[in-house]
Amino acid sequence: MVFGVILAGGIGSRMGNAEKPKQYIKIGDKPIIIHTIEKFYVHDAFEKLIVLCPKQWVEHTRNLVRQYMGDTDRVVVLEGGETRNETIMNSIRYIEEGYGLDDDTLLVTHDSVRPFLTHRIIEENIEYGQKYDAVDTVIPATDTIVASENGEIISDVPDRSKMYQGQTPQTFRAKKLKDLYYSLSDEEKGILTDASKIFVMKGEKVHLVQGEVFNIKITYPYDLRVAESLIRNGEMDK
Ligand code: CTP
Repeated sequence: MVFGVILAGGIGSRMGNAEKPKQYIKIGDKPIIIHTIEKFYVHDAFEKLIVLCPKQWVEHTRNLVRQYMGDTDRVVVLEGGETRNETIMNSIRYIEEGYGLDDDTLLVTHDSVRPFLTHRIIEENIEYGQKYDAVDTVIPATDTIVASENGEIISDVPDRSKMYQGQTPQTFRAKKLKDLYYSLSDEEKGILTDASKIFVMKGEKVHLVQGEVFNIKITYPYDLRVAESLIRNGEMDK
């Protein structure tokens, strides 16, 4: 079974919008999170879409889903976790309780604040997810990436042709992800910014899917202006 997992458990502190988390801000004619859910909703491959958000926003999110999508049992809204990875673990717990986890349970996890993903990206995530255990969506780095251990002096300038920027979706076999995550120490969990890294840290292969430059993560107020112009130019329709 394939599940879409929309990660909306964050509060968007870098957006500086105290009133509501950024996933509830409107771009075009509807909230960002609704644009994102709609991209998944049209795919028959998903048994269910699991949307996870902060506890105090669960009711609001359920109301939004009802308002824009009508009464549907294909979308379930649950409480997220303290960290992004804990939010993913909550989705796995839900699946385990309701369906059981087997080796073919696939999670297509996606940031709620990346509404511009394309159907091709979703399809390739599912296709490669069924062949490999883990998939990451990336684009080649355009800027040279500079590494610095202390934030003052360069420690490395890696070969740009081997550098990519990570996007989402990230697709995983749920059981494997869960087993690997719970095998990590608290210290290892602490340095994780991303779920693919769980596989990498444990020496497991993660297959790449080509993303899109416009599959941006809305993080700062500037990104909202970019998002509005992408909508005007029809990037939502891909
Ligand atoms: N996310 C989540 N659960 C968390 C933290 C983040 O599901 N505990 C989600 C966010 O809602 C977002 C995605 O992960 O859709 C990417 O995270 P990011 O852009 O960092 O979102 P925030 O954590 O909300 O933003 P900030 O870091 O600025 O507070």
